Amino acid sequence: MLKKSMKKIKKTVKSVSKKRAEEPAKKNIQEEKKLILAAGLEDDEQLVVKGPKGKLPSLLRGMKDVLPKDWPYWKKIYHTAENIAEAYGFGYMETPVLEEASLFTRSIGRGTDIIEKEMYVFDDRDGTRVGMRPEFTAGAVRAYISHGMHTLPQPVKLWSFGQLFRHDRPQAGRYRQLHQFNCESFGAHDPAVDAELIVVAYNFLRDLGIETIVQMNSIGTSEDRQNYLVELTGYLRTKRSYLCEDCKKRITRNPLRVLDCKNESCRPTLEEAPQIVDWLSEASKNYFMKVLEFLDELEVPYTLKPTLVRGLDYYTETVFEIYEDPSTSSGQAPSAGSTGSPQAGAGQQSALCGGGRYDLLVGELGGPPTPACGFALGVERVMTILRRKAEENKDKIEKESGGVFFAHLGEQARRRTLKMIEDLRRDGVVLHHSLGKTALKAQLELANKFAVAYTLILGQKEVQDGTIIIRDMESGIQEIVDQKKLKSELEKKTKI
Ligand code: HAM
Repeated sequence: MLKKSMKKIKKTVKSVSKKRAEEPAKKNIQEEKKLILAAGLEDDEQLVVKGPKGKLPSLLRGMKDVLPKDWPYWKKIYHTAENIAEAYGFGYMETPVLEEASLFTRSIGRGTDIIEKEMYVFDDRDGTRVGMRPEFTAGAVRAYISHGMHTLPQPVKLWSFGQLFRHDRPQAGRYRQLHQFNCESFGAHDPAVDAELIVVAYNFLRDLGIETIVQMNSIGTSEDRQNYLVELTGYLRTKRSYLCEDCKKRITRNPLRVLDCKNESCRPTLEEAPQIVDWLSEASKNYFMKVLEFLDELEVPYTLKPTLVRGLDYYTETVFEIYEDPSTSSGQAPSAGSTGSPQAGAGQQSALCGGGRYDLLVGELGGPPTPACGFALGVERVMTILRRKAEENKDKIEKESGGVFFAHLGEQARRRTLKMIEDLRRDGVVLHHSLGKTALKAQLELANKFAVAYTLILGQKEVQDGTIIIRDMESGIQEIVDQKKLKSELEKKTKI
């Protein structure tokens, strides 16, 4: 009797302390959610439960884990990138995450947000000043020069996919570890090259079901810009009192960067600023017109955006950004900002892609004078749209690649299941199962959680007559098929 009540007491104590341990975690989630909503982050932002204070180091701000539920989207984006880059003749290249910090400073430019505020820089153990790559272009140029790629037939076309680091202020669509699909074309100063790159980015997004608009501008050659910068600096000086502190500092140091300011209060003044297109030489104007003609020919929708200057210093002539078509998105208009970085206000939209021509960079970094052009697409921003579309269309992307669930009924079937699972896996079928569960209901519930389109059911009867049931999880319709024909039946149904 005493033993029994001791057991009961222990059980109650255990359940109370479990409840207590869970409470701070729940509170944490609610608080995090409030913070996330206040910061305007998306719903899919990861909520990470922090462990007991001081025990579990937390996920760093602006960083994300890629979880199995995210993977179908990543796979789709990566494979679409791979297919399109290879179809257009780009070769895959990976450069290291760490490079000498000066590579980025010299390429991206001292007066830019990336270099001034966002670079992860530190001294390596041997004293070398290193930087974590904030973009791919500088590393691609370094690799082009150090591997003597100028001796290869030109243009040399390279693509990359991977993570980058910018100590940006985290908010919707802006992370500190981000991923890009990046393409560069070295060795040709030809409007067809610029247009081809824009088409690659545009078709990549279209293949993913995202309708877009390309914003176009030309910022001319460095000679074109000399007179323009005098005019711009004069204008900005007269409007100094309307500009933010950062802009005031940049008027003399790097006036073009002022046009790139993300501060909403500076916008009206910057919209009125003199426009670079009016200072382009005839050659630059003609070059830009040809790029636009190619886009017309290729039926790529674009708008001209005279204030678009991009947030990096290496560009010459063509610059572009790509946004989701507002008529197909949630009705937002592209932001007035020119860097494609989302603004703090509501109703603003983030650039999915940014790029342009940079004819001087290879020469400036010590290579032979080599024209070049490229773009980078933000993987996280593309993924947010895919996820939103999947929800809108109730189209479960997870389902497409979620595989098949294998359920069994009875001991004999359980033994046979193992062998059948191995055979199916060898044939390339993605399978989920739960050999530990015996009740069919529990197994079907699990199949629903995996969001599979089909469940295979093997019972005693099926083992004996060499058949198996295929259950369509949406309609609940079941079909009995010969085990020998199972693979071909699944191929027909799931196109695996
Ligand atoms: P970017 O405009 O700095 O250009 O970045 C390209 C794209 O990366 C943006 O349009 C956006 O989709 C994404 N992106 C940028 N910052 C973040 C962030 N903090 N979080 C999430 N996504 C972000 C470049 O990087 C140039 N290297 C492009 C280029 C290649 N130009 C010539 N070749």
